[in-house]
Amino acid sequence: MIPFIDLAAQFAAREAAIRARMNAVLAHGKYIMGPEVQELEKRLAAYAGAPHCVGCASGTDALLLPLMAEGVGPGDAVITTSFTFIATAEVISLLGARPVFVDIDPDTWNISPQAVEDCLAAWTPSWGRPRAIIAVDIFGLPADAAALTRIADAHDLLLIEDAAQSFGGSLDGRRACSFGHYAATSFFPAKPLGCYGDGGAVFCADGERAARIDSLRVHGKGTDKYDNVRIGLNSRLDTLQAAILLAKLDHFDEEIAARQRVAATYGAALAPLGQAGVAQHIPAGATSAWAQYSLLARNGEARAAAQTALKAAGVPTAVYYPTPLHLQTAFAHLGYRPGDLPVCEDVCGRIFSLPMHPYMPDGQAESIASTVAKALV
Ligand SMILES: Cc1ncc(COP(=O)(O)O)c(C=O)c1O
Repeated sequence: MIPFIDLAAQFAAREAAIRARMNAVLAHGKYIMGPEVQELEKRLAAYAGAPHCVGCASGTDALLLPLMAEGVGPGDAVITTSFTFIATAEVISLLGARPVFVDIDPDTWNISPQAVEDCLAAWTPSWGRPRAIIAVDIFGLPADAAALTRIADAHDLLLIEDAAQSFGGSLDGRRACSFGHYAATSFFPAKPLGCYGDGGAVFCADGERAARIDSLRVHGKGTDKYDNVRIGLNSRLDTLQAAILLAKLDHFDEEIAARQRVAATYGAALAPLGQAGVAQHIPAGATSAWAQYSLLARNGEARAAAQTALKAAGVPTAVYYPTPLHLQTAFAHLGYRPGDLPVCEDVCGRIFSLPMHPYMPDGQAESIASTVAKALV
């Protein structure tokens, strides 16, 4: 079986640098909030073009912390997409607020700004007070930040960019993690910039907001960790993980470029398939970080048949996401029904993802693409 994501190949290519960075941490012994954490935060902020970056324990916490920093809680509601990983909406419920799910754009699969507008126009007071929009950059493609910023500003809402999958992507000359009042990314190992465990980071433009996040990630610390000025979390980024990320960051642009080549190879080979295999639309001015390369089959049966044929040919596939969040059991209490968000439900019913990583041997992307083309005809 071809690997779906080849972290071993990445480690083999970067082993010396990764080990050297890790050895430096083992030598200085500052495992918690060591100097690598600050060094990484500075480099990530510069990379993303965001004034502030605060490392934290996971991508999930990177979404939770901004909501905590803004006092989102019971009586509040947050608008978000239903086509995402559970973490995006879980953090809203965890704080006692209500997720309000809206539909996606049929071509980019990102939250539809029109659907957000429609949702606000038809707002039901029992949902609570609308406080924020969380837009996900799905599979690495930044959401429509300009339209969403206009809506957020017009309704006095916070805009949070869930950039868990999109570090390295860009839109109209700005990098992912620089949009909205806050952005959140994940360093889960399989993400475009992944560490060797859990990790995440919050980005924001405002220094006062960044200071609040910094306090919240260390138990609501004030002048020091034994002066506690708010209820917070233990959500620090480990020094060892920061060290690994620093070593990987040195080659990150090459990796993003390699992902573009894989995506271009897939795109060229699959374009003739027409409706039998429709790839994610990347709008002009956008670059995806290609956390995933996904396709829509004609229907669920065609997807199942293609996945079976591909597996037999040694090509692994995955389905992100089989169930939209509004129909997840965990959100059953919100009362959504099949048919409420038809675009999202249609996409979940026929989407699947192909192997995608920057270390494919020469010819592998071509060979996968031709196998996929045959499986989908
Ligand atoms: C869109 C999205 N949001 C949030 C998360 C949560 O990140 P983590 O797994 O680092 O907590 C993930 C990833 O797993 C994700 O894909």
